[in-house]
Amino acid sequence: MLIRSYRSEYRVVFSPDFSVELTAELKPGDFLIIDENVARLHADRIDPLRAKYAHRLLQPAETQKSYQGVEPIIDHLIRNGFRKNHRLVAIGGGITQDVTAFIASILYRGVGWIFVPTNLLSQCDSCIGSKTSINFGTFKNQIGGFYPPRLILNDDSLLRTLPRDEIRSGMGEMFHYFLLTSRADFERAQREYDAAFTDRDVLRGLIQRSLEIKKAMIERDEFDEGPRNVFNYGHSFGHALESYTDYAIPHGIAICFGMDIANHVSAHLGLISPAEAAEMRVLLERNWRPTVPGSIDLDRYLGLLRKDKKNIGNDVRVILTRGLGDMFITTIDLNESVRAVIAECFRYFSTSQTSVKTA
Ligand SMILES: NC(=O)c1ccc[n+]([C@@H]2O[C@H](COP(=O)([O-])OP(=O)(O)OC[C@H]3O[C@@H](n4cnc5c(N)ncnc54)[C@H](O)[C@@H]3O)[C@@H](O)[C@H]2O)c1
Ligand SMILES: [Zn+2]
Repeated sequence: MLIRSYRSEYRVVFSPDFSVELTAELKPGDFLIIDENVARLHADRIDPLRAKYAHRLLQPAETQKSYQGVEPIIDHLIRNGFRKNHRLVAIGGGITQDVTAFIASILYRGVGWIFVPTNLLSQCDSCIGSKTSINFGTFKNQIGGFYPPRLILNDDSLLRTLPRDEIRSGMGEMFHYFLLTSRADFERAQREYDAAFTDRDVLRGLIQRSLEIKKAMIERDEFDEGPRNVFNYGHSFGHALESYTDYAIPHGIAICFGMDIANHVSAHLGLISPAEAAEMRVLLERNWRPTVPGSIDLDRYLGLLRKDKKNIGNDVRVILTRGLGDMFITTIDLNESVRAVIAECFRYFSTSQTSVKTA
């Protein structure tokens, strides 16, 4: 898959063994930044690379995505002969990606980087799109830019060591792409959901489809200046839930709840029928079980929702829907009736299986 970008085109290569392609690609002086868990779990393929190339292991923690986290890595690179024509290689999930991309974008005014995404979220979503962000104190993703890798090696055999919740999180992110494109993609997700957990070919097909959907949009709006904002579908409501639960609910599962809330608010406003919201809920619910939030303090939740974007007064910017494949950005007033719809969604969630502690 070729992605057009403001810098240059870059490729996503689907490979049954990333280490073969990577070994052929690497040149003396290239430097690897590897998620420490992935290095351990996939030592059979990563140890030979570590033996041959300079590298650093990274603890995948949000605190590493910071000036304090990147400084020792930059210090090491500059002191140990890393040059402008050498490349950085990230092997890991979204944190390893952001740390590496951020350093690549600023070191020597920009060096090339290669990405081996190792979890489902990064394989189906974050590996393309050029965004590079680090945190600033407690403010998430506030510093960064747009700096795509030169090459992405997408190897689904790495996913075999992922916990089931991480697979479900990635599935949730893929659902959001499928619902916002078309009924055909939604029905495909319904049909293939169960098989995706056991059949690698099915899962790979869904990953490829997610990336195709994202590719079409980022090639139109790489800098997120307009059309790309529909990708926030489910995300404003979902992010608020992630912060409410202190990230106990994985991202892609939180956005399944977020999409469900967006759908029910849309139905309340007459944009879709209650039957359409219910139809989408059947799919979303398969993925959020059994990770559901327990009873929630609605005022605190809505406070976090307002904080998520620069909102004024009672109004919040969210993505709503006029039906499958038709999402749009709008402003809603969190008046009594909308609050009641959101409260009803949370009541529904809390009746599903095991609850995640929310306070
Ligand atoms: N740049 C972007 O476009 C973009 C997009 C989305 C998210 N993000 C950022 O990414 C971060 C979240 O990403 P994430 O969820 O991938 O986090 P992460 O990098 O911390 O990975 C999650 C966990 O999965 C583990 N893991 C990775 N691959 C594994 C494997 N093959 N087997 C077993 N465990 C494995 C990691 O060790 C880690 O514990 C956030 O900081 C977010 O802001 C960036
Ligand atoms: Zn997301």
